[in-house]
Amino acid sequence: MKQRYIAIVDFGSQYMHLITRRIRQLGVHSKIFPTDVNAHELKDAWGVIISGGPNDVNDQKLTYDPGVFDLPIPILGLCYGHQLMTQHLGGVVTSAHNREYGMATVEVLDKRSILAGLDNHEQVWMSHWDSVTQVPEGFTVIGRTSYCPVAAMANEKDRRYGLQFHVEVNHTLHGMKILENFVFDICGAEKNWNMIAYIQNLKNDLKKFVGEKKIFLLVSGGVDSAVAFALLEQVLGKERVYGLHIDNGFMRLHESAHVEEALAAAGFDDLHVVDASSQFLSAVAGIVDPEAKRKIIGKTFLDIQKQVFDDLGFNTDEWLLGQGTIYPDTIESGGTKTADTIKTHHNRVDEVLEMINAGKVVEPLAELYKDEVREMGLALGLPETLVNRWPFPGPGLSIRVLCASGKEEPVANESAVNAELQKTVQVYGTGVSARVLPIRSVGVQGDQRSYQHPALVSTAEMLPWEQLNELSVRITNSITGVNRVVYHVGGALPEQGFQLHEAYLTKDRLELLRQVDAVVDEVIRAHGLYDAIWQLPAVLLPLSASVGVVGEVVVLRPIESQEAMTVNFYPMDAAVLQEMVDRILAIEGVSSVLYDISNKPPATIEWE
Ligand code: XMP
Repeated sequence: MKQRYIAIVDFGSQYMHLITRRIRQLGVHSKIFPTDVNAHELKDAWGVIISGGPNDVNDQKLTYDPGVFDLPIPILGLCYGHQLMTQHLGGVVTSAHNREYGMATVEVLDKRSILAGLDNHEQVWMSHWDSVTQVPEGFTVIGRTSYCPVAAMANEKDRRYGLQFHVEVNHTLHGMKILENFVFDICGAEKNWNMIAYIQNLKNDLKKFVGEKKIFLLVSGGVDSAVAFALLEQVLGKERVYGLHIDNGFMRLHESAHVEEALAAAGFDDLHVVDASSQFLSAVAGIVDPEAKRKIIGKTFLDIQKQVFDDLGFNTDEWLLGQGTIYPDTIESGGTKTADTIKTHHNRVDEVLEMINAGKVVEPLAELYKDEVREMGLALGLPETLVNRWPFPGPGLSIRVLCASGKEEPVANESAVNAELQKTVQVYGTGVSARVLPIRSVGVQGDQRSYQHPALVSTAEMLPWEQLNELSVRITNSITGVNRVVYHVGGALPEQGFQLHEAYLTKDRLELLRQVDAVVDEVIRAHGLYDAIWQLPAVLLPLSASVGVVGEVVVLRPIESQEAMTVNFYPMDAAVLQEMVDRILAIEGVSSVLYDISNKPPATIEWE
């Protein structure tokens, strides 16, 4: 008998794959299908979930088989899927009516069926530009938010459901309950998937794929590559896996030495290390654009790998390239037919994609999320200290040192944006002010990449984190051109605003950030907060308090997350923050410290 599943039709949402992962968590098999899947192909499905995506339904850009909506099985539309179903069945979707990113509260109007077991008011996660403004015939509104009149709708007779929010992300507190209602109660699915079986299948697939070849694995020393290293060595034996750690010069203080020691202590005493810091540094000299920087770094990794490979006299026909790529790396790099590129991860540059297409790359973790990789690492016998390390990006500190040529365009309509910002924050008291910063950072809004300005908020008295969160959401939901909000927590705060200056990715700036990063790490560990925080990038901005003044601006970006797809900023204890800020300001070359109070969406974790 064919294995039955829940079908996910992929319209390009950043969270599409996360839906399949949530279904797996429920112990049910799920399969992804492309946008234009023929309805007949879904005949073994228990039910269908139509994902979100970056497109506008009123644009009619994507084709789909209308027969899908006639299938006699339940259908759940999420975000774009909700809007597509609305439009297909005769309802109305209004473009750019209201935008909504991040946390929202849904008022639950009907607690039967798909919303069974929920509270009257539920925290959900939104990321959309368009809204359903009129439901199709036969549907009733079962949930709404103050921004979104049809946050949830249902047609019980036909078993059709639409939700504007993302049930698949952890920040929708009872998202799993909603999926459980859909998968078991509405679709009648049965449990037919588990993790142990997944690892066993993966090992079998790896053996088949690799055959007699050997693997040349790039090991950054982070969680993903360490788990990939362990898995591959268990499947193929140590002699068939060559682990190479490339020190790109963008590592943390003493990181490369630490990686070597930690892996050796965990039984991986065969890691090879090469110092390529000068090649990386000269490759990015003078580069300002974040995507250009990321692509150059990704390519340099491959150049070094090839160089080492040749120096060792290895035969290309006998080897495959191994990478610890995980799913968010792929999806954020625009890795499906319909997804937008949010940022190009170092393991997803064109040269790597060509090798993948030629069947020369092994990525055993490519289907998984960070928390699943950690679970697998523990199952493979890796120590908790290694598995629970904070994630660190492949391009390292390089994407945390923002650069400027000094010739950047000024902020468009700066005074109008500043006036709007000031109007938005003044409800929080007279001592609160806000203005836009003259630099840009990456964000993800409505499943699309954004590259916009952060707003800087300052207050006479420190506001409670909850209020700052509300203020931050309010700013990014209502002010076009602002995708991130930072809060002044120490040092100079020039009345005229910070000045942008020419600054590149130099050894000195890297060294400065490395010192800041080391202080952050020390303070967090000293207060026993390492496990409470998911990741804490420190970012260096090419801004100074006034023209000619030496000293740059540091941003702290502590976050809480589970799998990096959605994030909220971490509300740090005031005394710990004060200690951290004081110590950072004592470092020569730092003039001010800001605290990133943005969630994801609308802002990504890293600034570039
Ligand atoms: P963003 O900034 O996209 O980051 O919200 C999500 C997670 O991925 C990490 N990150 C990377 N990891 N190569 C990596 O291995 C990369 O190019 C890269 N860019 C971002 C980031 O630190 C966060 O944990």
